[in-house]
Amino acid sequence: MKADRGSCSRFFDRPRRLRAYVDDSPFVARRPELSRASDADREAAFFGWASRVVDEQASVLAFAELLGHLGAIAAPLAALETVHGLLGDELRHVRLCAEVASWFGDLDSLEIDVEDLWLPPTDEPRASRALEIVVRELVVGEAESLIALRAYRDATSDPAVREAYAILLYDEARHASAGRNLEAVLRASFEDAAFEPFLSRRDDVAEADRRHHRAVHRAGATGGPGRAFGVSIFAHEIPALPSTAPPTASSSHPCSGSCDPIPTDTLLP
Ligand SMILES: [Fe+2]
Ligand SMILES: [Fe+2]
Repeated sequence: MKADRGSCSRFFDRPRRLRAYVDDSPFVARRPELSRASDADREAAFFGWASRVVDEQASVLAFAELLGHLGAIAAPLAALETVHGLLGDELRHVRLCAEVASWFGDLDSLEIDVEDLWLPPTDEPRASRALEIVVRELVVGEAESLIALRAYRDATSDPAVREAYAILLYDEARHASAGRNLEAVLRASFEDAAFEPFLSRRDDVAEADRRHHRAVHRAGATGGPGRAFGVSIFAHEIPALPSTAPPTASSSHPCSGSCDPIPTDTLLP
């Protein structure tokens, strides 16, 4: 990444010696209809999709950390294969979001910093940390992301952007489902004590995270420009959580903003 810092061409470069190992097919064949778009709509779409590159890269690093922990504790191979698949999806999402952003502006005019997006470090045991990532990033994070992304997809009128959303939503729905199944497989594979200290606070943290994600997604839905291109909705388009829900423990979540439709229930999506 260092050599390319400041340039966004890194998202698209395919050096010849590596080309054989990656899928080079275009994600979305069509392009958006921009002839009637206002400058404000284009600009909002450009920055909105460029900012999603950062969120997707953060998912890459979170799942890379998870894969390392699962390997180190000798988790079932199917769990490693599943996380490996999710990691690949998130890498494709990085490139897809960069591609969509490039429809609306010159990506090389932006500096998108995708370095050091690791989750905050911890000294907790690997199995506990693995379960924490599964619950917070997949079971809760991906499910909440799915709700927000569906609202943006539904608000989008441009066919090319809807096609990009179809790809994202298909994958993110599988990710939320994979999270629930990963949690079940891990819990069945190790003694409860292996997941401490996270296991004791699991439900409180999950509820606090869910409320945090929902509040952030609703706060960011301000009805600005770019609705046709998938970057603007109104807060009421994301359902509020019931105010009568049980009280939650204090918990901070590292996400800085956003982080979804085919429910599947298999470990290997
Ligand atoms: Fe993603
Ligand atoms: Fe995801």
